[in-house]
Amino acid sequence: MSVLHRIALAGGLSALASTTALAAGLDGKTIGFSQIGSESGWRAAETAVTKSEAEKAGVNLKFADAQQKQENQIKAVRGFIAQGVDAILIAPVVATGWDDVLSEAKDAGIPVVLLDRGVDAPDDLYLTSVASDQVKEGRVAGDWLVNEVGDRECKVVELQGTVGSSPAINRKTGFEEAIADHPNVTIVRSQTGDFTRSKGKEVMEGFLKAEGGGSDLCAVYAHNDDMAVGAIQAIKDAGLKPGSDILVVSIDAVPDIFAAMAAGEANATVELTPNMAGPALEALDAYLNGGTEPPKAIITESKLYTPADDPQGEYDRRKGLGY
Ligand code: AHR
Repeated sequence: MSVLHRIALAGGLSALASTTALAAGLDGKTIGFSQIGSESGWRAAETAVTKSEAEKAGVNLKFADAQQKQENQIKAVRGFIAQGVDAILIAPVVATGWDDVLSEAKDAGIPVVLLDRGVDAPDDLYLTSVASDQVKEGRVAGDWLVNEVGDRECKVVELQGTVGSSPAINRKTGFEEAIADHPNVTIVRSQTGDFTRSKGKEVMEGFLKAEGGGSDLCAVYAHNDDMAVGAIQAIKDAGLKPGSDILVVSIDAVPDIFAAMAAGEANATVELTPNMAGPALEALDAYLNGGTEPPKAIITESKLYTPADDPQGEYDRRKGLGY
């Protein structure tokens, strides 16, 4: 973790938002933000940080919650175009189906920045994207498990994110890459838990039943922490110990996974910063005020956390950050 990031986490939401130095150039600009919804603790933090970053920069942020539906996102983006906003931020719920609306924004001369998820569309239709390397996140999680289990046989169940979303596709790919040369580690069941805690619990209950109670299972790999927290509850309800009978590895680094880690019930998480808006506004500032084209992809860090990384301290540092 960078020094700046550590300082931010230590100081609360306003400090987290101040990791990015903004020029005053966006003061008075209007920016539309089409957010997916509020499926996870991480998503709530991203929304909070985006609002805070916009306020700090003097941006009039028009926020639209799509409640997990792409059709709502497309409608909101069309609304932003009709209002003649200066720029648009989109966190795209799924990867496909964006070409038309992105072309409309481009034709209207409105730059679009994608936040935290990718799209399957020509990259000249948007200015830049701020996201993690999601394949790497899956690989980091898989590498951790492979090292942890060594030569022992390990049956893994996988809780996937939202079907068709870039993190669900890429985190699966990365994990599979990591275990590919380790035939002792196999994914025996894989199903979507839609990035939510309740679905993660429900699907894990089904996995445990289907696997004869789960005593043969070695690990659960969840594409986000919220599903992992749901799975932890299901494992406890089944009379097994999460963290030891069944290892738990996931992605996001939200406070609740650190609480679980501190209690010995979770084993590893890969951090995804909720501050996508800072770099996005910085890129927009440079573009709108000087025509500077940012790189097509601004990639955030993917750091692994385990119980060796002071989970209680991480919980305390993060709990007031909007999660
Ligand atoms: O796109 C990022 C993912 O979306 C986060 O990992 C997950 O928690 C969220 O819902």
